[in-house]
Amino acid sequence: MSSQPLTWVVTGCSSGLGEALVPAILAQGDQVIATARARDNLSGTDRLAALKAAGATVYELDVCHPQEELDTRAREIWQIYGKVDVLVNNAGYIDMGIVEEISEPFLINALRTNAFGPLNVSRAFLPLMRARKTGTVLFTSSVGVYYGAPGASCYTGAKGLLETVVPNLALELAPFGLRTALLTYSYWVVVRSLAGNLFYSATTRRYAAAVEGARLEGWGGE
Ligand SMILES: NC(=O)c1ccc[n+]([C@@H]2O[C@H](COP(=O)([O-])OP(=O)(O)OC[C@H]3O[C@@H](n4cnc5c(N)ncnc54)[C@H](OP(=O)(O)O)[C@@H]3O)[C@@H](O)[C@H]2O)c1
Repeated sequence: MSSQPLTWVVTGCSSGLGEALVPAILAQGDQVIATARARDNLSGTDRLAALKAAGATVYELDVCHPQEELDTRAREIWQIYGKVDVLVNNAGYIDMGIVEEISEPFLINALRTNAFGPLNVSRAFLPLMRARKTGTVLFTSSVGVYYGAPGASCYTGAKGLLETVVPNLALELAPFGLRTALLTYSYWVVVRSLAGNLFYSATTRRYAAAVEGARLEGWGGE
């Protein structure tokens, strides 16, 4: 247990890694604000009822909100404990599509959630961290950026943007005593990425062989 509890903010806690990370933070004796977006007629906070019962503070946050709204919500979140030590940009979205068949809005959607969203959320917290001269901002990426995986271009392209931006951000933040890092994960199975559950939005039979290969070689860790 740390002597001074850290205050963490984690995005995308309705499932998967975010949902698992929150109890681990609490077990260390730290404070955590778990966030989720509203979905399926449930508020973000209602979706996080179990994490609230476990001791987390819960807050509704869609990482795709406009910057002004993210700025307001970051200030509200900051006031809960009077500080944020660690921001974990965990929220992410994977939608598979073959490059020839996707549309620009499809690509923009992937960029919005996986790259612009985390950068905008970070931009909302950075002035507050900079004024306090301490803080760590973590981003979530994927080894898929470095391996070929047919159908995954929108996802890995968006994560790849983070891979190239964060090293620059680290140099920009260093003089203020702030830190940033990329968490470049390998592959683990979550309910929504089980084989057969990945959604290929625009795959014709012409590309079926390539996509099946991707499941086995690139994404089929199970
Ligand atoms: N599993 C892997 O093998 C793997 C590998 C490399 C990287 N990653 C990355 O690790 C992170 C966690 O993924 P996971 O495996 O735990 O998958 P997951 O269970 O699908 O979790 C993703 C979370 O992001 C949330 N989210 C999506 N769009 C959002 C938005 N606009 N605003 C707020 N929250 C949003 C989802 O919430 P909703 O329920 O509202 O959709 C969900 O809670 C992601 O960034 C993912 O890309 C995962």
